[in-house]
Amino acid sequence: MSEKPLAALKNQNVAEITFADHTRLALQVFSDTIIRVCPIDALANPSYAVVVKPQPTHFTVQVEAGVAAISTAALHVKVYPDHHMDVYDQNDRPLIMDYRGQRQPLNRDLAADETSLLEEEGHAGHEAVNAAAALTLIKQLDPDEVFYGLGDKTGFMNKRGYEYENWNTDDPAPQMENFTRLYKSIPVLYGLRQGRPYGLFFDNPYRSHVDLGKESPDYYAYSVVHGPLNYYIIGGHRLADVVANYAHLTGTVPLPQRWTLGYQHSRYGYQDAPEINQIADDFRQHDLPCDALYFDIDYMHGYRVFTWDPARYPDPEMLITQLHKKGFKAVTIIDPGVKREPGYPIYDDGKKHQVFVKTPAGKDYVNRVWPGHTVYPDFGSTKTRQWWGQCHTALTQIGVDGIWNDMNEPAAFDGPIPDDTVFSDNDKKSTHAKMHNLYGHNMSHATYAALKEQTGRRPFVITRAAYAGTQRYATVWTGDNHSLWAHLQMMIPQLCNLSMSGFSFAGTDLGGFGSDTTPELLTRWIEAGLFSPLFRNHSALGTRRQEPWLFGESTLAIYRKYLKLRYRFVPYLYDLFALAQSTGRPVMRPLVYDFDQDRQVYDIDDEYLIGDALLAAPVVTKGKTSRLVYLPAGQWIDFWTGAVIAGGQEIQTAAPLDTLPLYGQAGTMIPWGPAHDFITDEPDRAMSFKVFGDAASYDHYQDNGYDFAYQKGEFNQYHITFAQGKAAVMLTKAGYPAGLYSHITVTAGDQSFALQLENGKYQRIDKN
Ligand code: GLC
Repeated sequence: MSEKPLAALKNQNVAEITFADHTRLALQVFSDTIIRVCPIDALANPSYAVVVKPQPTHFTVQVEAGVAAISTAALHVKVYPDHHMDVYDQNDRPLIMDYRGQRQPLNRDLAADETSLLEEEGHAGHEAVNAAAALTLIKQLDPDEVFYGLGDKTGFMNKRGYEYENWNTDDPAPQMENFTRLYKSIPVLYGLRQGRPYGLFFDNPYRSHVDLGKESPDYYAYSVVHGPLNYYIIGGHRLADVVANYAHLTGTVPLPQRWTLGYQHSRYGYQDAPEINQIADDFRQHDLPCDALYFDIDYMHGYRVFTWDPARYPDPEMLITQLHKKGFKAVTIIDPGVKREPGYPIYDDGKKHQVFVKTPAGKDYVNRVWPGHTVYPDFGSTKTRQWWGQCHTALTQIGVDGIWNDMNEPAAFDGPIPDDTVFSDNDKKSTHAKMHNLYGHNMSHATYAALKEQTGRRPFVITRAAYAGTQRYATVWTGDNHSLWAHLQMMIPQLCNLSMSGFSFAGTDLGGFGSDTTPELLTRWIEAGLFSPLFRNHSALGTRRQEPWLFGESTLAIYRKYLKLRYRFVPYLYDLFALAQSTGRPVMRPLVYDFDQDRQVYDIDDEYLIGDALLAAPVVTKGKTSRLVYLPAGQWIDFWTGAVIAGGQEIQTAAPLDTLPLYGQAGTMIPWGPAHDFITDEPDRAMSFKVFGDAASYDHYQDNGYDFAYQKGEFNQYHITFAQGKAAVMLTKAGYPAGLYSHITVTAGDQSFALQLENGKYQRIDKN
């Protein structure tokens, strides 16, 4: 080592490192398992993602032979005089090691003039993203290393071998694994190196890029166009712990309203109030459970936000009241773009309050979206968020139940918004380059706060664009997929990687948004998406309609079967959401989440877990009526037949068109709710629990399902056990007496046990 760090010293929760070139690096210890790395002068920068403060943590800082060593109980970091850094786990085994060799850019075998030739024929050129990068980290890649996370990027569960960009983008072309960017930027990456898990969270909203071993099998790299380099090293015993640590760092998903876990239906193109009412009636007439209908941009007057088309929706309040009576919630879309039109009250008021983003010359910046020329609210300003929130009273006062935020990358039909457009960053003047990836995040924040204040209920906000941490405000969907088998397949990696990236509440457009669906594809999609946390069918204007009764009796019957089944699982999903909120453990999970030591699961793209009890292995290929299913170690119970199957092997299973292969893990239990056509504020009166295997115990959570009373202790908790042929239920918390089940049934195989509430205790009432 030629140079020595001038100093490495401990200053409260920070290891301060000063290099010979006088640059100063901070390693800020958040906990045993979380260490932030950034320049010392960036320590005080606010973050939109991180919600926790460093916890008092014991750590040591030493300098030996010119190398600084910073150690917590779980992580050992070495910083070298040449600025390199290596991270080891608690047993000193390598986790994240700097790459010291030369970078080997991909050889595309193209001269510059050939690139333009390709572009002339219409082939997209390969952007030299790395060239623009101001800052780069390059880490050694182990031959066995695999990657997860990064939100809902396209492609496969394991991201190794691909490159991705973080720059929120609305590109309506069919998204395949060659897409490097989509609507969201969630720069958290999980690695498993020799089975040892770690996380890296790059908390810098500027445009960034990751190459996960595409360029070279020797390294992976992160680069960002503007500093500071600001990232978190996340450790944990198992991958699940690393994921939970990240969730706590950026905030867990707040418990949603119970009805939001029901089936939801949407279409871009529903024309008017009679049509919406008809769709509602058709759902009931066809005996299809459904909880929500959506109002896409068609409801607005010329796509002006916070208006209703007076001819097609003369009395929206009456319409919403009618829908409520039929058991449907109403969710309206709100895009950020405000039509630039003097005389339109929202525009005039926004101008008066100076809430729109500006050109560097101080004029309102104008681009074009659905309504034509539009201006963009500046959501990084508190004043704008409050103003925007206020605009929602027009919707909440007439009974709108949820808000769908779209086009908030933000989309701009007349070409990209210039980088130097003036946006606010925590009320300070900033640029589009910095605030672009945060636009949807700050918009969701504004919407969440408004709904909370105006309705008192748990806000239901859906957003398309997001940044790390947006899960605190909104559920997300993956944007404009197409009715393609490849997109049904992509749903599983997208939703699993989203949930690992903090977003437990997520969904795709079931059936596919663009292009025409087919009866078989729609059927397999409703099966595969059965446990999708957000369970919404949505399709685009001009495509084949996707109401399930339009595909013939047999498709309708299967669709109905799965909608009805979904409602039986809602109490289980709700329990998982309560757990996700308190522990950061996701609802929907890739197999690697629970079985990170089993290399067989690293590349499984067509199976997923729901909590730790259920494994779904949908058919996602056209024409297939059987498939191979890998069952991890343990014993698994076929959900349909009750057959016990040994895990640790691949099995061939029949999967006729009406069957979703589904397995319960032996030793677990799930609640099995009563049948519902829709979910009301009324508590269920009785609950069943299904046991998989010979013995299990389970903690079940219950509250009123819609407001924040649970935060004051108004909830119930039940501890259910089944062992040695006996079932018992203990009420471990009774803070919501109005909801207490009068009857509970526990079933295990063909045994069934009935219990009844008597004097605050559940007593067996059958004498089996
Ligand atoms: C965007 C959305 C889509 C919506 C459409 C019209 O394409 O992603 O879901 O239906 O805009 O609002």
